[in-house]
Amino acid sequence: MTTDTASAPAPLPLLVLGQGTDLHTERGVECPGDLPAASDPDLVERARAAKAALGDRVFVLGHHYQRDEVIEYADVTGDSFKLARDAAARPDAPYIVFCGVHFMAESADILTSDQQTVILPDLAAGCSMADMAAIAQVEDCWEQLTAAGVAEQTIPVTYMNSAAAIKAFTGRHGGTICTSSNARTALDWAFEQVGGVGSDGTGTGKVLFLPDQHLGRNTAVRELGLSLDDCVVWDPHRPNGGLTREQLENARMILWRGHCSVHGRFSVDAVDAARREIPGVKVIVHPECQYEVVERADEVGSTEKIIQTIAAAPAGTSWVVGTELNLVRRLAQQFPEQRIAFLEKNVCYCSTMNRIDLPHLVWALESLVEGRVVNPIHVDPTVAAEARAALDRMLALPGTTHKD
Ligand code: 13P
Ligand code: SF4
Repeated sequence: MTTDTASAPAPLPLLVLGQGTDLHTERGVECPGDLPAASDPDLVERARAAKAALGDRVFVLGHHYQRDEVIEYADVTGDSFKLARDAAARPDAPYIVFCGVHFMAESADILTSDQQTVILPDLAAGCSMADMAAIAQVEDCWEQLTAAGVAEQTIPVTYMNSAAAIKAFTGRHGGTICTSSNARTALDWAFEQVGGVGSDGTGTGKVLFLPDQHLGRNTAVRELGLSLDDCVVWDPHRPNGGLTREQLENARMILWRGHCSVHGRFSVDAVDAARREIPGVKVIVHPECQYEVVERADEVGSTEKIIQTIAAAPAGTSWVVGTELNLVRRLAQQFPEQRIAFLEKNVCYCSTMNRIDLPHLVWALESLVEGRVVNPIHVDPTVAAEARAALDRMLALPGTTHKD
């Protein structure tokens, strides 16, 4: 038998986790030190004791998507905007334990002083959406926009759910960060820098919106009055983003082709089914959901807004909620006077948010008690300075509050 080696397929570039071949991708795969067993019956007591021993030296932040067992030990909870502000508001705490995902901990590191250390209990708590925009791709996109003659009229607006390097790119090019609670204000500000939104057809400036196409489209079309035709999608995996020069020239919103792997799965069919099955139901969704889903909902908002809306609703009202399951389950427990259901049966927890569990939290806290800092998040100082410029622009946006 002869073997034609020339036509044999190249071996697949498999990444074997835990081998140290790609340290960035493998971060958190192995946990150095003794992680308590999830079955340890003393975990709750150990968390309480470690937190008490640390007192004011530690400040624990918990995003609304965290598990109940973790939220229990959070000094404050919030959406990503509120947590960024809360982290910056505690300069006296030497340790910030961030129960959320990597980009949130990076932002907290950028916004806190050099004397403070931000800790992410499990380094594998990333965000699939943030990973959809790599800095080399974004730099390449900007070069293409420059070559097409549109970069001068374009300002970047970057969702908080992004790596620090993308925030730094945004800062370098005069743009701002936004979150789901202030995206409209951020876009208004950005268009003002390039001649006004001009939704009546008079505007010429553009926004490059990174990395969530859905938040960008939902905000531009539903809140700023731009049309769907004003939006184009830049696909970093295609030459020139898959767009012609004419499409770029005519666009007002250049949306990065990124999405949330959790929110992107809520469907129009699920909204229609809820309306058929639950008389008088109100549908509330996060703006990371697809445009068609948001259009069919009654309310749209950040995690903080979803909580406030349900808390303020009259008793006996029925809600289906399109956001992460930990939060929806907690809402159902906290507001038994409402009928609260999850929008889509086939959508799972955010697997990366769920990486932070009680064993990792206990491990991080007990290590601090013993004088060891585990999983510190340090953003490179040059990157941090440029990213900070973009974050500060967000924090200075007119009328920006976490209640927006
Ligand atoms: P919020 O800004 O609403 O907290 O959302 C963060 C997030 O990751 C949503 O998927
Ligand atoms: Fe990222 Fe989506 Fe998880 Fe939020 S819910 S952290 S956007 S993957």
